[in-house]
Parts: sequence; structure tokens; C-alpha cells
Amino acid sequence: MTKSTPPMVSGALPVVGHAAEFQRNRPDLIRRGFVEHGSVFALKLANQNVAVVIGPENQKKFFMETDGRLSIQEPYQFLKAMFGEALFLAPHDKYLQQRPLVQELFKREKMLHYVDVMQTVVQEWLDGLDDSGKMDITSEIGVLVQEVAGNCFLGPEVHQAIGREFWDLYIDVGKALDPLLPPDLPLPKFIKRDKAKARMTEILGPIIAERRTNPHKYDDFLQDIINKAGEGDEPIDEEMVRNLLVALMFAGHETTAGQAAWTLIFLLQDPAYLQKVLDEIEAIAPAGVHIDPKRMVQLDHIAWAVREVERLRPSADMLMRVVKEDIEFGNYLIPEGWLVQVAQEIAHKLPSQFAQPETFDPLRFAPDRAEDKAHRFGLIGFGGGTHKCTGMNFANNEMIIITALMLRQFEIELVTQDTKILRGLGANKPTKTIVRYRRREPALAEPVLAAVA
Ligand code: HEM
Repeated sequence: MTKSTPPMVSGALPVVGHAAEFQRNRPDLIRRGFVEHGSVFALKLANQNVAVVIGPENQKKFFMETDGRLSIQEPYQFLKAMFGEALFLAPHDKYLQQRPLVQELFKREKMLHYVDVMQTVVQEWLDGLDDSGKMDITSEIGVLVQEVAGNCFLGPEVHQAIGREFWDLYIDVGKALDPLLPPDLPLPKFIKRDKAKARMTEILGPIIAERRTNPHKYDDFLQDIINKAGEGDEPIDEEMVRNLLVALMFAGHETTAGQAAWTLIFLLQDPAYLQKVLDEIEAIAPAGVHIDPKRMVQLDHIAWAVREVERLRPSADMLMRVVKEDIEFGNYLIPEGWLVQVAQEIAHKLPSQFAQPETFDPLRFAPDRAEDKAHRFGLIGFGGGTHKCTGMNFANNEMIIITALMLRQFEIELVTQDTKILRGLGANKPTKTIVRYRRREPALAEPVLAAVA
């Protein structure tokens, strides 16, 4: 018997379908679809049919069929105006050439270096804060994560010389992201984007040339990318260096900033768990102590909190693919040309996967419960399969460092009590959240190092 297409969620309007509601409040729309029809259902975004698939087995199929019957390249075409044919925007054979290069940027010895850079940058920021005051944790962490990315990706010299201007240009490029309009329309935002890209080329050109001449002088992402050959034995071309750099900044900065800010917010909302974190910091990495890999892996309570934020507040709340060849999900047939979507925010709140899923409960990841191990595709904040986030360890390490260093040197309390999710095209983040902070007494902040050596 031929299978039918998935049932349509209620509320579709003539012509636009669910497009307006999708833009306004996609999680509620998807939640309603799930309640009405279960784990596979459809919605309509104007002319485009979309199948939403929920639950670990469907998610597994979504990720395993990517680059087969499902295309990751097509739904994200609008990103090409920002970073050309970098990563999964490239044709598949080119993607396969780039992928090992990008993976190498994150291998263990590189990561050890980045973790050191992260600590230096975060510590400098903390040293520059007043002894007490108020700040918006969302925007402050946003800037801090830019500093970390700038220092790791561009290297400290380049970042100091051009970092601020580069980020401003990057923001102009990012603001022009538009999944609907053709990217070459003569609109002010597209004109600004092209100017920003031209300026980036101007800035990076001489830097890349110097790096090619003196490859051993530098140790950062930019140099690692330049050191790699392009196609065949040709040096990697300058445009690809720029594209990869901007792509990695895009993939890694707002996502990490959002989840890092949420980690602090959730911890400050849960004094009992916060105390466990503070005890852990005091026992393993008190103020003044360098967090080396041995200490890093012992910061379990922070790592579980970071993972719980991935579950409850994933920066990316949906992922898309285009169906290249008819495919079945559950009892339904999803025809060629449809979009298929997974929805992390809903998938992460299935009671079949996570006990009391609405509650912030990092201990669910402790070894005796290990709820994330129940199914490999149950927790998908960093995606899955071939395209699983290459920067996952980088991001998790950065969030752990920010949390540990801030909490061990400052007492912090929330002033804003009702932080909400601010949804963006690149990533979600918390709305403005004011905290009050006070530097801890030096006696507490700098215990005798010998005690922990
Ligand atoms: C909390 C922070 C982050 C989150 C939530 C996140 C999330 C994701 C997700 C969901 C994907 C899969 C996309 C898909 O399947 O459609 C992905 C891919 C990717 N991410 Fe991340 N990411 C984060 C941080 C980073 C960082 C710091 C970097 C690098 C500096 C990075 C680099 C990448 C790259 C290169 C890919 C593409 C992998 C491929 O296609 O082979 N991400 N990320």
C-alpha cells in the first residue's frame, strides 16, 4: 500500500500556510503539531511543504540520510552570500576535501592551546571589571566570546590590530542574512554586506600574504588554514581562507555565547546546584589555579550544567534538509522537494528520553543516570552524524572556562528574573539579563596554591 504524506498541523492560513506563525513562534507551532499528530507531521511555509520529525529514531534517520537522500547543502544556500562555498555549502566532493582540514584545527594538541588562550582572555576580562557593579550578562558574554574567537582564530597580534573592525564588518555581513530574498537585490543591507566583504578582503590580504611568507611564526586557526594545501598541491586560495574563517566565526560565536550565558543564568536560578559547582571549583580549580586538562575533566558539575543547557536552551533549535529522493519516516512518505526538519527544543523535552524534562537538572547526566546515553540521537544540540558540530569540544571547553573563572572570582546574583529566549537566524540567546556582581575577597579568591597542586 502506498504510504501517505504526513498529516498537516492545524492553523494553516490560505496562501501563507504556517509561515507567519513559524516566524513568530516556531516552537509552539511544532509543539502543537506533535500533540495533534505525534512524531511525524507536516506544515506549510507558503508553497513549501515541511515534514517535522521528532524522536531519537527519526533523528537518527535524519542525520544518517544526510548527503544521501537528504541534502544539507540546499536549505542553507542563503548562507553562501556570507561565506561562499565553505564547509557543507560546498559541493559534496569539495566538502569532503575541506572537512579533514577543519577537523585538524580542533585536534587535541590544538585544543590544549585554545583552552590556554581562553583562560588568558577570560581572566583579562575579569581583571578589567570593577570590584562590584551590574552588567547585562548576555551582551558581555557575547563580546567575551568574540574576544576568545578573535584570539584563537585570528591570533592575538591580528586580533589586537584589526579585531574590533573585523567583528563590525562580520556583523554587517551577518545582518544581511536572508533566507527569502535573492542575495543580489540592490537593497541597503546587501550593499552594506558587499562593502564589508570588500573591506575584509582588503584587511586580510596582506595578513595572509605575510603568513604565507613566515608560516612558522604563528600558531592559530588562520595559520593552520593557510598551511594546508588547497586542491592538489596548490596553496589554498585566499578567498577560501577568508570564507572558512568567517564560516567558523559564524558557526562558533553566537551559538557559544548564547549557551554560555544561559549556563550562568540557570546556575544562578538554582542555588542548591550552584553550591555543588562552587564546592567543585574550590576543590579542583580555585582562583589563581590554571585549569589544565587534568583539572578540566574533573569539573563534572559544570560540564553537566553546560550539557543541560544544550538540552534546554539549544542555540540552534531546528535543523533543515531538502529531500532529494522520496523517503519514509514512520508510516509516512516524504516526497522529493519537501523540507525535513528536526526540532531540538521539542526533541529534548520528550519524557521518554529525559525525566521531568522541563526541569533544570544537570545530575541527569551523572553516571548513575546518564540519560543522554539512552539513545545516541536523543540529545542533538550539536547535531549528529557526518555533520555533527566540529567545534563541539571547543565550545564546551569555552563554556566551562567562562563559568568556572567567573564564579570563582565573583559573587553574582540575578537582577532580571524573567529571561526569555531571543530567537535569531544564526542562533538563539537569552534576552537582556542584568546581574549584580561583587569580587570575592582575595582570601577566598586566592587560596594557597600548594593545597591543590
Ligand atoms: C554551543 C555552541 C555550538 C552549537 C550549539 C553548535 C551547533 C551546531 C550544529 C547543530 C551543527 C550541525 C548543523 C546541521 O546538521 O545542520 C553544527 C555544525 C558545525 N559547527 Fe557548531 N555549534 C557550536 C559551536 C561551534 C564552534 C565553536 C565551532 C567552531 C569554531 C563550530 C563549528 C561547526 C562546524 C564547522 C560545523 C559543520 C560541520 C560539518 O558540516 O562538517 N560550532 N554546529
